[in-house]
Amino acid sequence: TAVAGVAGHPIAHSLSPLIHNAWIAAAGIDAVYVPFSPLPDAFQRFAEGLRGGSVRGLNVTLPFKEAALAVAEEVSERADLAGAANLLIFNDDGTITADNVDGLGLMAAFAQQAPGFDAASGPVVVIGAGGAARGAAAAFVQAGSPEIRIVNRTLARAEMIAGALGKPVSAYPLDQAAAAFHGAVAVVNATSAGVASEDALDLPLEATPEHAVLMDMTYRPLVTPYLARGRGLRRRTVDGLAMLILQAGPSFESFFGRTPPPEVDVRAMCEQVL
Ligand code: ATR
Repeated sequence: TAVAGVAGHPIAHSLSPLIHNAWIAAAGIDAVYVPFSPLPDAFQRFAEGLRGGSVRGLNVTLPFKEAALAVAEEVSERADLAGAANLLIFNDDGTITADNVDGLGLMAAFAQQAPGFDAASGPVVVIGAGGAARGAAAAFVQAGSPEIRIVNRTLARAEMIAGALGKPVSAYPLDQAAAAFHGAVAVVNATSAGVASEDALDLPLEATPEHAVLMDMTYRPLVTPYLARGRGLRRRTVDGLAMLILQAGPSFESFFGRTPPPEVDVRAMCEQVL
């Protein structure tokens, strides 16, 4: 039996076990996908204990994505750029490989819900400057976006990401959001869950071009106040559930060596429990 899983704290509400176990069942693979919840300061010891391959791999979620990068001997370029890993592979020889497929999920979510969107066709905006924001900014760098504008309440945190990612990335304070929105082809909300309400953020979304695509990385609720406002302005929108599911696909491939069975409607399954 092949074992894979997801590590986070808290973990109880993770949708990943539901998604992966549905795919495992439909594919008829001898495998199981397990949720793990190491204590916040114990991730390193937890991951070290899995060396050798009894557990084939792990998805990693909050708050362990940076710690996951640090335990690995081998780090993919995209994980390095994101400064975080959401996927660890435990190799038979005892080494750990860190990867990050969140960026693949993000780009695939745009392709699925905003067909024709081209990340390289103009400036993009990322709201927030935590781990999620850095991951999104790194994905746009890799997708060839000519300019990535990070808007954050605390300018210094946005400047740190810009410093880490280099030339195409610049930092804006929240009160210059309208300037950052000028000419943008996409605006991604990467602020922490629960603060994405229009009242808390009060973003001047009307300053975005009509063709701009608005994306929210959170999916609780599925249609966040930010996305609802975007739809009210008749902008195209992309939700965080699409990103979650579309990063799960490449994770499943890494764990089990095959693509997920397409007949499973994982989105409907997830919507049922959200
Ligand atoms: P994560 O690692 O999940 O991205 P994080 O590091 O806690 O989470 O980052 C949360 C982001 O949401 C930060 O950019 C934060 O802004 P600050 O850097 O100024 O703290 C942003 N955020 C949280 N609450 C906010 C609020 N009420 N208004 C504006 N931005 C907020």
